Amino acid sequence: MLIAPSILSADFGCLAKEVESVIALGADYIHIDVMDGRFVPNLTIGPVVVKAAQSAAGSTPLDIHLMVQNNSFFAELFLPLKPAFLSFHIEEEKHPHRLLSAIKKADVGAAIALCPHTSESAIEYLLNDLDMVLLMSVNPGFSGQEFIPNVLEKSRRLRDLIERKNAKCLIEVDGGVNGANIAALRDAGVRIAVAGNYIFSAKDRGAAIKSLKV
Ligand code: DX5
Ligand code: ZN
Repeated sequence: MLIAPSILSADFGCLAKEVESVIALGADYIHIDVMDGRFVPNLTIGPVVVKAAQSAAGSTPLDIHLMVQNNSFFAELFLPLKPAFLSFHIEEEKHPHRLLSAIKKADVGAAIALCPHTSESAIEYLLNDLDMVLLMSVNPGFSGQEFIPNVLEKSRRLRDLIERKNAKCLIEVDGGVNGANIAALRDAGVRIAVAGNYIFSAKDRGAAIKSLKV
């Protein structure tokens, strides 16, 4: 399992130190939640702060998760940072194939995020154009919410669909991930685990990250 700590749960007063600390403890990516106060009822950070997190991250790549309306506008802001992945929500995009092409053209991993209520069938005809699918296991907007277990069934169905289509994309799960559900996520086909609260509020962050590396 690859681990992507979500800085939404970090102390933004010392963001660089927070990023450096989880990287030293084994983070594979730094997960960045971009929220616009419209698609979700929360507002987070723009490219200025994300650039600061990227400087602190050094060679560890960013995994940028857009939770916004007007995806193209935000994609243009963040593509120049060359994250490993840029994901946008299928629920908010009329022309996903066009946007995926623009992301790939920028040499960035193209990813689509699905809310808990959205079926994997919504992206069936995009799977061969995707590097990653982000399955939300909480309602998008906030850290520290409870894991919604129906993501396990969705992940299994998505894994089967990916195999049938001979696609190459990875499955990532985001929301309420912890040491108690990580093995079930792995068994359901998940390769990248996002975790905010479980890592950043742990007394021993190293042990928390280790417990997710299943
Ligand atoms: C929620 C965000 C998540 C969030 C995860 O909308 O997309 O990345 O930070 O936080 P936890 O792991 O605390 O649920
Ligand atoms: Zn996220």
